[in-house]
Amino acid sequence: MEFTVKSGSPAKQRTACVVVGVYEPRRLSAPAAELDEASGGFLTALLRRGDLEGRKGQTLLVYNVPNVLCDRVLLVGLGRERDFDERAFREAVATAARTLDERGAMEAVCFLTALPLKGRDTAWKVQQAVQAVEHALYRFDRLKSEPERPRRPLRRLVLAVPSRRELASGEEAVRTGRAVAEGVRLTRDLGNLPPNTCTPTYLADEARALAGRHPERVRVQVLGREDMERLGMGAFMAVARGSAEPPRLIVVEYRGGGEDERPVALVGKGITFDSGGISLKPAQAMDEMKFDMCGAASVLGTLEACARLELPINVVGVIPATENLPSGTATRPGDVVRTLSGQTVEILNTDAEGRLILCDAITYAERNHQPEALIDIATLTGACVIALGRHAHGLLSNHAGLANELLAAGRTACDRAWELPLWPEYDEQLKSNFADMANIGGREAGAITAACFLARFARKLRWAHLDIAGTAWLTGERKGATGRPVPLLSQFLIDRAARRAGARGRAREG
Ligand code: BES
Ligand code: MN
Ligand code: ZN
Repeated sequence: MEFTVKSGSPAKQRTACVVVGVYEPRRLSAPAAELDEASGGFLTALLRRGDLEGRKGQTLLVYNVPNVLCDRVLLVGLGRERDFDERAFREAVATAARTLDERGAMEAVCFLTALPLKGRDTAWKVQQAVQAVEHALYRFDRLKSEPERPRRPLRRLVLAVPSRRELASGEEAVRTGRAVAEGVRLTRDLGNLPPNTCTPTYLADEARALAGRHPERVRVQVLGREDMERLGMGAFMAVARGSAEPPRLIVVEYRGGGEDERPVALVGKGITFDSGGISLKPAQAMDEMKFDMCGAASVLGTLEACARLELPINVVGVIPATENLPSGTATRPGDVVRTLSGQTVEILNTDAEGRLILCDAITYAERNHQPEALIDIATLTGACVIALGRHAHGLLSNHAGLANELLAAGRTACDRAWELPLWPEYDEQLKSNFADMANIGGREAGAITAACFLARFARKLRWAHLDIAGTAWLTGERKGATGRPVPLLSQFLIDRAARRAGARGRAREG
């Protein structure tokens, strides 16, 4: 999709379609009122006849509007004006995009970005509009023999900004939106790919492909089973032992900052299929455990966004990737392993495998990259889905400043996280009679005890954990990867880069 920004009056747009909003009940937004005025009350007359109430999700495509230069006008319901928030804005844009795509308007000028939205400037609206459109029009049909595609798809969308003064910042916002959307797309594609294609080896190849697209700033290093056994990654290797598919530790370095600047480390869970291992999962919906690598995919997606944005910071992605399968060589409940950190773990449930691969990856990142902050991203617990549903990521952290940065980034990006407590009381649930800790903490507070386990490997780090078990994919009719939390993580890095640039500027001025 091609996006541009433009200022000007809706009546003067020579295009296939102009998109304007209508609030409920039958109240024209400012751009719609301009069209109405130019056309001598044409839209008012339509509304009076009851063709459109203005409810969320409603649309009306109108032809032959007098005295305007466009072929048609798409009216989009916005809901009540006082309830028009970020979510309503994004939904209105998505609805417009889907309608245009289906109805054969290959080009349109969209005035939804000119609507007032409390606390959000034009750049925010433009960036979010780009991301919402790309999100709404995403399809994963590469494995279908005959993909269903619109005959005349939307190709070019012009986003209206209120004045010429905002053209430059609008263009910048388009670039940012596109970069994040490309990261989200990569993450969704990887998540949606079946587990017989998207193996640890495939993820490593994808990381190399990413480096190939950005050779000047991205480096990749991949470790195999022998390397990791030699290093002493006993926990990660305990998970990998049951599978014939070779495990990989994928390290992707993005170098956009200074030579000596410590990186932000992103550690992503890359279980390309989670059967549970010997602690086998029930058959119901087990196919969804192909999405158990969405943490890994979001690390690659965020690095893709980062590289496209050429952010002036250093980031390192560390991805432990393996399958979790039962077999004659698989880990047994009761096995005790030594982690890379030296701490021992009694594996009481082989289905609590995410923390086992992550703990070694965290230690590896700490030792080899001395990160300024480390964030792990994982589809870690069913308990998190019970606690927060599919709307918020679970966030747990040992550093209040880092947690607040992530919460704020999530709000800006409409990709929110919600913090859960990481108190010592919960940590006590991990006690083992035979090793330093068990890999499970009982039925209660499962999302928290999983994070407590990881926290034991991040004591010397500024660390945060995002549990994306509920947010990384949708189930049912709309089953598929969401690309979350790439928007949150990208925003977090954008904000960090901006703050560091500000700090450097102030230092220069001395
Ligand atoms: N990948 C799963 C978590 C999961 C389950 C995500 C369902 C989304 C939907 C993870 O490896 C797992 O199996 N966790 C166990 C932990 C338990 C054994 C302590 C769980 O949540 O049941
Ligand atoms: Mn599991
Ligand atoms: Zn898992």
